[in-house]
Amino acid sequence: MTTLLITGGAGFIGSNLVRMVASAGQYRLIILDALTYAGNLENLSGVIDGTNVVFIHGSINDGDLLKRVFSDYSIDAVLHLAAESHVDRSIASAAPFIETNVTGTLCLLEAARAASVGRFVHVSTDEVYGTLGPDDAPFTEETPLQPNSPYSASKAASDLLVRAFVHTYGMDCVTTRCSNNYGPYQFPEKLIPLMTLNALEGKSLPVYGDGRQVRDWLHVEDHCRGIMLALEHGRSGEVYNFGGYGERFNIDIVHRIIELTGADTSLIAHVTDRPGHDRRYAIDPRKATSELGWQPVHSVEEGLAATIDWYRNHSAWCESVRSGAYLEYYAKHYGTSL
Ligand code: NAD
Ligand code: TYD
Repeated sequence: MTTLLITGGAGFIGSNLVRMVASAGQYRLIILDALTYAGNLENLSGVIDGTNVVFIHGSINDGDLLKRVFSDYSIDAVLHLAAESHVDRSIASAAPFIETNVTGTLCLLEAARAASVGRFVHVSTDEVYGTLGPDDAPFTEETPLQPNSPYSASKAASDLLVRAFVHTYGMDCVTTRCSNNYGPYQFPEKLIPLMTLNALEGKSLPVYGDGRQVRDWLHVEDHCRGIMLALEHGRSGEVYNFGGYGERFNIDIVHRIIELTGADTSLIAHVTDRPGHDRRYAIDPRKATSELGWQPVHSVEEGLAATIDWYRNHSAWCESVRSGAYLEYYAKHYGTSL
């Protein structure tokens, strides 16, 4: 059976990907995750079996560990999702983003190359393209990279390292760039889970600036299907954009969350805008459709309603994340502290 290394598999997208791939049963999965604040083993409860789905606690910055993992588990291909992923945190402190997203990606590329791994899928973001005006055409794979935040700059740097490893060493890499994801298991520092949990708890809903920034929302399951299609059918050295034709103003998303949770609009608080806030993201995913046969299947309306139901019905997960209890999960189940 083909063995995949999934980095960042305890995070939001990674854990959804692990669940999707594990349930199909076609691949053996080795998850490598440093369990930062964003990594949560509860996201993988019931999935790790130690045989077909193995969890390894460790960092992509640890070259010795990577060497052992590639050799001990005979890794055939890599799905690289591990990252520092939150723009606001990158504004507060950029260094961890360079350490993980740039140096860590380099370390992983070097280890994968040394192990002659078949395919390396690098999961990136549309934020590397910068920001759009209201009438600009959506980002294509040809749009120049103009990152504006420390987060997007670090992701753009990692994309260029991947490109260089293809060009210089002939490595077999594919890069995906996706728009904003939403769905189950997303850490409540990002817009949709933060607003959902706050609305359910009757807390303030902090909208940055006028709330008229636009994001192009994609359900995480659609993204995960795209990552697997890029693994199986992408052309080496190519970039594939994924987006859900789901452009919405932030303030409209917040109003919809209020309707779906039955909260009060008086909870909305317009707060100081994010420095350097990108105004609009929008993706043209036609290359992924024509080359990979990829199409989003979830509409924002249906996907958002289902997501809010998920948070409502998973109060134990929400409580554990809110209280920080999830940070104790590793020690409880593996017998050692992190
Ligand atoms: P996340 O923050 O929820 O999860 C990141 C995971 O990486 C966590 O489990 C964390 O513990 C792990 N990690 C961090 N540093 C590590 C290290 N040094 N070694 C090993 N593991 C480490 O992020 P996410 O939202 O699931 O995003 C996954 C990937 O998808 C990222 O590369 C991100 O840039 C990209 N992406 C995210 C979105 C989005 O909307 N969330 C959109 C497009 C692209
Ligand atoms: P976020 O989920 O952080 O994703 P990104 O910055 O990567 O797009 O934010 C999505 C949008 O929501 C972004 O325009 C910032 C805005 N936002 C708020 O208005 N209030 C908030 O509390 C958060 C977290 C985000």
